[in-house]
Amino acid sequence: MHHAPPLRLGVNVDHVATVRNARGGFPPDPVRAALLAIKAGADGITAHLREDRRHIRDDDMTRLKSELSKPEIAKPLNFEMAATAEMIGIALATKPHAVCLVPERRTEVTTEGGLDVVGQHNALAPFITQLNDAGIRVSLFIAADPKQIAMAAELKAPVIEIHVGAWCDALAEGQTRKAEAEWQRIVTGAAQAASLGLEVHAGHGLDYVTAETIAALPQIVELNIGHFLIGEAIFTGLSQAVRDMRAAMDRGRKKIGPRA
Ligand code: PXP
Repeated sequence: MHHAPPLRLGVNVDHVATVRNARGGFPPDPVRAALLAIKAGADGITAHLREDRRHIRDDDMTRLKSELSKPEIAKPLNFEMAATAEMIGIALATKPHAVCLVPERRTEVTTEGGLDVVGQHNALAPFITQLNDAGIRVSLFIAADPKQIAMAAELKAPVIEIHVGAWCDALAEGQTRKAEAEWQRIVTGAAQAASLGLEVHAGHGLDYVTAETIAALPQIVELNIGHFLIGEAIFTGLSQAVRDMRAAMDRGRKKIGPRA
């Protein structure tokens, strides 16, 4: 019998907020998208409150937390944020299930795109302690780099999320050799992290093909996926929305009635 560890899907709703903010009003609501995603089988919701609030806003985080905490829903909220005093304060007040620390400024980024936990060790340590003490699961979004992974364990973060963007980009660009090298780094990194006792997640740039490939790595227990899903939803959802609009217009038109 084959007993694979479960693989959770975290749906990132940031880009529903991107579309909303393009108009500045209320729809489409990322909280509505989150509830729909849960109904469709997502295991949790991820949202990134950026310092410039370009997509998710403070009240989105509050509403996500309150909706997902309802007993009939009870799904984890994963709060992505930069490691700044302001963001840590919001996390401690909002109390999401998990916080994934991501780079937001150039100086926090390694060449591979993840958070530079080796270079930022001293700045990150107190934030990780505060979040650990508050019972929030801390995840560090890092490249599959042996030094970064070792430092994540040393910093006592319980979770890492491997930045798989370089692998996904290389595949999308048809750079086969680069993609193979990036894939090997992910395979090795996931094994190293698991051997250090870290829980391993992965994310950034995943689509149906790359998600299927990475799902075969047994150490990875969660994928966080946003941009592709929201984009794909346009194509799987647009025809229904157009039909509903046609029907609404037809209903309105009928109210004119026969002309004399
Ligand atoms: N995981 C982390 C830590 C991220 O920062 C992001 C998006 O910024 C994602 C996952 C989701 O990536 P995507 O939107 O490309 O699926």
